Amino acid sequence: MSDQAVIQLTDVRKRFAANSGPALDRVDLSVARGEIFGVIGQSGAGKSTLVRLINALERPSSGRVEVDGIDVSTLDAAGLRQLRRRIGMIFQNFGLLSSRTVTQNVAFPLKLAGDPRAAIDARVDELLLRFGLSDHAHKYPAQLSGGQKQRVGIARAVATQPDILLCDEATSALDPQTTRSVLTLLKELNRELGLTVVLITHEMEVVRAICDRVAVLDHGVVVETGPVADIFDRAAHPATQRLLGAMAEHAV
Ligand SMILES: Nc1ncnc2c1ncn2[C@@H]1O[C@H](COP(=O)(O)OP(=O)(O)O)[C@@H](O)[C@H]1O
Ligand SMILES: [Mg+2]
Repeated sequence: MSDQAVIQLTDVRKRFAANSGPALDRVDLSVARGEIFGVIGQSGAGKSTLVRLINALERPSSGRVEVDGIDVSTLDAAGLRQLRRRIGMIFQNFGLLSSRTVTQNVAFPLKLAGDPRAAIDARVDELLLRFGLSDHAHKYPAQLSGGQKQRVGIARAVATQPDILLCDEATSALDPQTTRSVLTLLKELNRELGLTVVLITHEMEVVRAICDRVAVLDHGVVVETGPVADIFDRAAHPATQRLLGAMAEHAV
């Protein structure tokens, strides 16, 4: 494994049931520290399974998932807590607590981590300011636009100062303009904090907007991987060409 790989999957296979095909099959993947790594594939390709393996919400049926060289399947409860504090996650449906305000949502992971009250208040203020949410501090998720909800999701995900951010279809519920603003925000966090971003999507335009490298997942198999420009210029696999074709249709 390369020295700088922060996430490394080696010959990973995940099968949910003995009588079904594997959700992931012989996946080798290496994400370097500080890069924005895209994983693209159609619905059912295995993308969410892949992110759930990285934060150890699922275990591989075989193969190894390492974060900073540590096989995450060997972690005990304390090790898992530590791993998850390092890894923030955002979702398509934002995953906000509907009965809590913006402030309470952002404070939630800090409370879980047992941070002192004064430190939580200061950190939440800082985050709301950074993400343009100060005016919405006391609103509930239902009172926010999609873009505002995802900004709350991002603020909450980075509250504990993780160095890895996993984004599972984080812009898929957003209109194109809001998608662009959220992607710009992710790029800024990547630059400002050196955050490593794994960005899962089914949209090629999202990959082109901010990813450094991309892996194309098709029926659980990585069929292509490389720098984004190479994949766009010389898409070799039919699955990649299909995804590029879908993008061309949107653009019309
Ligand atoms: N918890 C689960 N139990 C059984 N099958 C699952 C589970 N999670 C995912 N799968 C199956 O694994 C495959 C990949 O799913 P998923 O990782 O959600 O794909 P994607 O996120 O690319 O749409 C699908 O066939 C899905 O039905
Ligand atoms: Mg998914």
